[in-house]
Amino acid sequence: MNTSTPSLQNDCAYTLVSEQEIASICDRLAAEITETYKDSNRRLVMVVILKGSMPFAAELMKRLSLPLELEFMKVSSYGAGTKSLGEIKVHVDLKRDDLMDLDLLVVEDIIDSGRTLFRLTELLKNRNAHSVRTCTLLDKPSRREVDFVPDFCGRVIPDEFVVGFGLDYNEMYRNLPFVGVLKREVYEK
Ligand code: IMP
Ligand code: MG
Repeated sequence: MNTSTPSLQNDCAYTLVSEQEIASICDRLAAEITETYKDSNRRLVMVVILKGSMPFAAELMKRLSLPLELEFMKVSSYGAGTKSLGEIKVHVDLKRDDLMDLDLLVVEDIIDSGRTLFRLTELLKNRNAHSVRTCTLLDKPSRREVDFVPDFCGRVIPDEFVVGFGLDYNEMYRNLPFVGVLKREVYEK
């Protein structure tokens, strides 16, 4: 057997968020999001952060009966020192410049240090979006390095490295239908 091939399910120590729980989290978030935007007469744009948020965004959007548009961004944070907030590099950007009159809902898979969403929301606000809110499936607040609180949060989790349902380790495990904690031996070998 080729030991370098990940055996997806077996590489997880345990399931942290089951498929069933993901579905009920999405039901609740969709209700909260609908309540927030139902009386807005602006255009709502869901900004999906590639790649990890794709499965989550797909589950969420089919539960929203609000009119909405879909956009994608791919970003990475870098250069974070102990005192600096770091910067973000935009690899895939929105296909429109004028964000005025738009309500942006940024959809993220997980918040860790908070740098990515801190910088990204700042960037989108500077481009004059009417509003910028954030929705994350998972949050690890114990890892926070900058002051950032999402508007909508699926579930707070402990400081564990998780994979599945979009989340990766070295680009693998994104296709697992649940969120699991990766066995230490997988990333320490
Ligand atoms: P932050 O800027 O530190 O909040 O970084 C958030 C990003 O780090 C997420 O979008 C993920 O790509 C990645 N990340 C953080 N924690 C995990 C994890 O437990 N599993 C997989 N990716 C993670
Ligand atoms: Mg990510």
